[in-house]
Amino acid sequence: MNEYDLVIKNGTVITAVTTIQADVAINGETIAAIGQNLCGKREIDARGKLVTPGAVDIHVHLEMPIGNFRSTDDFFTGTAAAAFGGTTSIIDFVEAEPEETLLEAAAARRALADPKVVIDYSLHMTITPADIAKLAQVPDAFAAGCTTFKLYMAYGYRLHDGELLQALTAVRDVGGLPVVHAENWDVITTLIAENLAYGRTAPHWHPRSRPALMEGEAAGRLIDIAELVDVPVHIFHVSCVDTVEQIARARRNGRPVTGETCPQYLFLTWDAYDAPGVQGTLPVCSPPIRSQAEQDALWQAVSRGDLQIITTDHCPFTIEEKATGLDDYSTIPGGVPSIEMRFPAIYSRGVGSGLLTPSQWVDMCCTAPAKLVGLEKKGHIGVGYDADLVIFDPHKRVTLSPETLHETAGWTPYEGVTLTGWPEMTLVRGQVVVGDGELKVEGGYGRYVHRTKANLPA
Ligand code: URP
Ligand code: ZN
Ligand code: ZN
Repeated sequence: MNEYDLVIKNGTVITAVTTIQADVAINGETIAAIGQNLCGKREIDARGKLVTPGAVDIHVHLEMPIGNFRSTDDFFTGTAAAAFGGTTSIIDFVEAEPEETLLEAAAARRALADPKVVIDYSLHMTITPADIAKLAQVPDAFAAGCTTFKLYMAYGYRLHDGELLQALTAVRDVGGLPVVHAENWDVITTLIAENLAYGRTAPHWHPRSRPALMEGEAAGRLIDIAELVDVPVHIFHVSCVDTVEQIARARRNGRPVTGETCPQYLFLTWDAYDAPGVQGTLPVCSPPIRSQAEQDALWQAVSRGDLQIITTDHCPFTIEEKATGLDDYSTIPGGVPSIEMRFPAIYSRGVGSGLLTPSQWVDMCCTAPAKLVGLEKKGHIGVGYDADLVIFDPHKRVTLSPETLHETAGWTPYEGVTLTGWPEMTLVRGQVVVGDGELKVEGGYGRYVHRTKANLPA
């Protein structure tokens, strides 16, 4: 009988389309067979456990410079925390300095990440206003494996509509996929100025400066410009029904548009901004966290399939860094940590409540994101795929806190939330990366994935 290098035996295997009792056999770094009574030189018993593809998070910011700060998790701590939560691939970002070429910037980002990562990763190429003069370099970025391109409609990186049109066209011409932060920056900056002029400086005013209606407006405008130049588009961190409706309408009309949301919008409400003192600054992120009604509607949207992907937008800052904006909410460094809890949290709240099937959970957190961004061998349990796998204990209860998580911000917006279901073991390319509650590999085990395509949104 054929003996494989490693067999995960007796587990309940969950893919985006089915759930079966089966063994999963691995040779080297690759899934070699799925079936009954498979034999391995090494065997892991997964009886009573779920066996899923490794989760794929296509939206994280590790050691990202923002103003005077840098997001607290670096490529080691961030990927380690991801692995503890069952994530085996991430996509981070390249932002070129004005004087750098896109290729130089990608090489510099890889030089930073390669020695540190414990799971596999790839990079979106950001096209900033300064890069509009460099659009002829977009084919170089694509050839370097950055097949997805980040465009901002907000912040200092904001592209005006004409620049957006130029960037979308350049990405279309190489067969790439634009991934976009859609908000209406002119309205936001005007509302912020108005609020500050009236002395409304507390984080309470953060979501009130970034109305849901205008997030939806920006998403709709983006979708229309993308239709004009006939390019697909993926919309990042959807926080509200207005944006969901724009995406659903475009999809009904046959447009290749997808959307993602994130745990902060599914687990928190804007009351968090009214917590006293520095506590109210911590959940500042953009788009902002919104009302309970918006949260409920987002769960319905993921359940219906009107949003196709769940990512994290992991971008944490320390309490001290957040506190620098206590007197002016518009200066608080934006972003929250979620990289570790996403996969188990969506199982616990989504599958646990019956809103999602196990296959929807796997699809939204593993399969659909991998497919969208062209991680061809990730996100699925199938012969020939990378042996990126999670052995998931559906009964293990974990209460989230800085003590139970491995992120480095020193706080979590999910403090005290108890999840049912947590990864027991995480494998990347056949190697146990997390097991027995410990990290089993060193920085540098993870690899850069040189992507060769992005796929049209389904
Ligand atoms: O506030 C956030 N979300 N910070 C991270 C950068 C971004 O907008 O995605
Ligand atoms: Zn963003
Ligand atoms: Zn982001």
